[in-house]
Amino acid sequence: MVASRHVLRDIFSVLNTPSAARDLVSLLESHIHEKCPQVDVFVGLESRGFLFGLPLSTSFFKPFIPIRKKGKLPGKTKEVSFKLEYGEDVFEIQAESIKPGQCVVILDDLLATGGSLKAANELVSSMGGTVGLNLVCIELKDLQGRNNITSPVQSVLQL
Ligand code: PRP
Ligand code: ADE
Repeated sequence: MVASRHVLRDIFSVLNTPSAARDLVSLLESHIHEKCPQVDVFVGLESRGFLFGLPLSTSFFKPFIPIRKKGKLPGKTKEVSFKLEYGEDVFEIQAESIKPGQCVVILDDLLATGGSLKAANELVSSMGGTVGLNLVCIELKDLQGRNNITSPVQSVLQL
C-alpha cells in the first residue's frame, strides 16, 4: 500500500493476530514506562483509542476515561469541536472525570492531522489535567499532525 492521506490505515489487521496484538500492547507499555511512568489516568479516544486505553489502564492499574463523540456520555459533560482528515466532529468528556493536577496519557490508534488529539488535549487541560504523553500506534508523517500538539507525542509506527 502506498503511504498517502487518502489510504485508510487499519489497525484491525494487526489485532486479528494474537501474538502481534500482544506485542503491540507491550510496545505501548514500554513507551509509557519510558516517557510517562508517573501516569495517573488513561484517556482513550472513541472508538479505536478504546482498544488500547483499556488494556494499558488495567496493566498500570489506573483509571480508564473515555472521550466520546457528542451525545453518547451520561451526566454532565464538557465538549469541544474539531476538524478531522475527513470532516468535523465534537468530542465530549464527563465533567470531573479528571482531577486538577493529574497526569494523563491519551491513547489513539492513529495520528493523521492531529485534530482529534488536539481537541482531547484541550478537554484534559480545561479540567486542570496535564497531558504527559499522547500515544498512538500509527503516525501519518506527511500530514505533520504532531505539529498541532504541544504536549509530548509518541508513535509506534511512522508511515
Ligand atoms: C480516526 C482515528 C483517529 C482520528 C485521527 O478516528 O481513529 O481518532 O481519526 O485523525 P486526526 O489526527 O486527523 O484527528 P475516526 O474519527 O475515524 O473515529 P473512529 O475511531 O470511531 O473510527
Ligand atoms: N483517520 C483519519 N485519517 C485516517 C486514515 N488515513 N486512515 C485511518 N484512519 C484515519
